[in-house]
Amino acid sequence: MHTAGQPHPEALEISDEELAEIALILEMSRSFSISAYKDKCMKRRVAIRMRSCQCHDAAGYCSLLRQNGHELDLLQKTLTIHVSQFFRNPATFEKLRTEVFPYLFANAAADNTDLRILSLGCAGGEEPYSLAILLREHFSPQLEQTRVTICALDIDQETILAARKAEFNPERLKEVPDDVRRRYFRPQGARMQLSAAIREMVTFNRGDVTALGSFQRHDLVLCRNTLIYFNRPDQERILNGITQILPPGGILVLGKSETLVGDVRRSFSALCPLERIYRRI
Ligand SMILES: C[S@@+](CC[C@H](N)C(=O)[O-])C[C@H]1O[C@@H](n2cnc3c(N)ncnc32)[C@H](O)[C@@H]1O
Repeated sequence: MHTAGQPHPEALEISDEELAEIALILEMSRSFSISAYKDKCMKRRVAIRMRSCQCHDAAGYCSLLRQNGHELDLLQKTLTIHVSQFFRNPATFEKLRTEVFPYLFANAAADNTDLRILSLGCAGGEEPYSLAILLREHFSPQLEQTRVTICALDIDQETILAARKAEFNPERLKEVPDDVRRRYFRPQGARMQLSAAIREMVTFNRGDVTALGSFQRHDLVLCRNTLIYFNRPDQERILNGITQILPPGGILVLGKSETLVGDVRRSFSALCPLERIYRRI
């Protein structure tokens, strides 16, 4: 919250040159590149950290970053924001339940193959775990017949470690119906621990959504609320990468404020434009 007497984050001016210097420090010390992200977004987030450290100019903040590894970690975390929710945008999960999964399971059964799911920019695991819960709740017979893997990926190592631990602030469970919450979560101090049966269904790895080259086929890819932080050429690059790993008939789900951009638009038909669900042609 903004406190009187302190500069508002937006009021801290960071020039392009200063942002470039911060980018260089991050690249040299953490091998983390911010070049693909929108500058405006990065400046706003750097300003948030500067304000927390009571740094009123970027030069001072750069010297702090050079001396203080912990602040580098905090900055990287702030630059890659990790806000998520179980069943975020419930209508999207409803479409997955009623249309997408029945279609994907039917395809997998017809082709006698497995079903591979990928959650990109998975934050604390809320999204892939929601998929696992949905499958357990509504597709048990299909799970007996078709092998399903859910892989989840995020750039932030700490976030991945937290996701594997699967202890959540109850705030993150706002959209989880009471009976589902009772079945899969139990209180652990002030937090909620997800059951092992669901945790075991998801594999988490650190990875970069801009470099999906080594990834194999996935039939359902969710990349929600992550694309928005990237500049347009990199959005196109990310979408191109996703297009390469989706087979014809594969499904892509974007966030509600995201859309297909560039040439890849020709590679998809809209399955549910409102929920940003697309089918690979
Ligand atoms: C706002 S969260 C979205 C979480 C979830 N997909 C959802 O919709 O609720 C964005 C996530 O993208 C991750 N992220 C940012 N840049 C990334 C990159 N280059 N590769 C992989 N993940 C990235 C962040 O660390 C963050 O956890």
